[in-house]
Amino acid sequence: MKHSVRLAGPAATTAVTVVAAALLCGGGATAGAAPAPRTAAAAPDISLTNVKAHLAQLQSVATANGGNRAHGRTGYRASLDYVKAKLDAAGFTTTVQQFTASSRTGYNLVADWPGGDTNQVLMAGAHLDSVTAGPGINDNGSGSAALLETALAVSRTGYQPAKHLRFAWWGAEELGMVGSRTYVAGLSATNRTKINGYLNLDMIGSPNPGYFVYDDDPAIEQTIKNYYTGLGVATERETEGDGRSDHAPFKNAGIPVGGIFSGADYVKTSAQAAKWGGTAGQAFDRCYHSSCDTSSNIDDTALNRNADAVAYAVWALSS
Ligand code: TRP
Ligand code: ZN
Repeated sequence: MKHSVRLAGPAATTAVTVVAAALLCGGGATAGAAPAPRTAAAAPDISLTNVKAHLAQLQSVATANGGNRAHGRTGYRASLDYVKAKLDAAGFTTTVQQFTASSRTGYNLVADWPGGDTNQVLMAGAHLDSVTAGPGINDNGSGSAALLETALAVSRTGYQPAKHLRFAWWGAEELGMVGSRTYVAGLSATNRTKINGYLNLDMIGSPNPGYFVYDDDPAIEQTIKNYYTGLGVATERETEGDGRSDHAPFKNAGIPVGGIFSGADYVKTSAQAAKWGGTAGQAFDRCYHSSCDTSSNIDDTALNRNADAVAYAVWALSS
């Protein structure tokens, strides 16, 4: 099957480009030969409107459940049910993994996109729980909503990646990455080695944003940076919290990891404000872990760019 060309979905629209690239490269490839991985399928533009609609739903969930979506509270389960229903309707195979933390029941939501080589799995994840202090819209409704919309775009475009795609929404990150640690601990040695990469999204719409790329697996890091370079947006290496989110258990298990981050309670320097705009001398997110982390605690430009970066990376790393 090495000469098969997929024509469903976005591959069909990029087939001409792929053939032209093959001819230009002159590598002896005949027209219709299997495309090089990085040019196989263009990632779709992720709709900011749709991502914000998911955020509005998560805000409503918090408002209806005592103001938060925290582990062990009704707002967490309602958040999970919202995301799960969208994924089920889009054709994903969803699994809810239950665990206990601080004497309360928690859940991970795992969504597999049928197809692809299950010996080569690309995972992307975001924690879905908030702290009890507030609704957690930037932390981490932003990553959860962008991940959901990326997964829905996989379905909408009929994407048939070479690798198997698995998306995850983690519970109890705010209690010390309990959900993601539970998931990784439950993987057999074989299944662990099948995961080629894990992409983490935790806080990607900060109101005074920075553009940070995790300084971890070099191939994943470079793929993400390529996206921002194409936009003309400067990035910095993420240094605020190595090991402070759900990529840590994956990294500790020897799985290549990467991710993006728009900043939490650290203060933006004047050099950073000069290249990214926003306010120097102020935190990237002044509402980090507090009650004001609401729907208004989001920078739309950052959320839009970062959601597109997620899709870009998912496509590039799975094709
Ligand atoms: N994990 C933190 C939280 O959810 C947020 C955070 C702070 C973070 N610094 C980070 C996430 C660096 C990723 C990278 O509260
Ligand atoms: Zn977080």
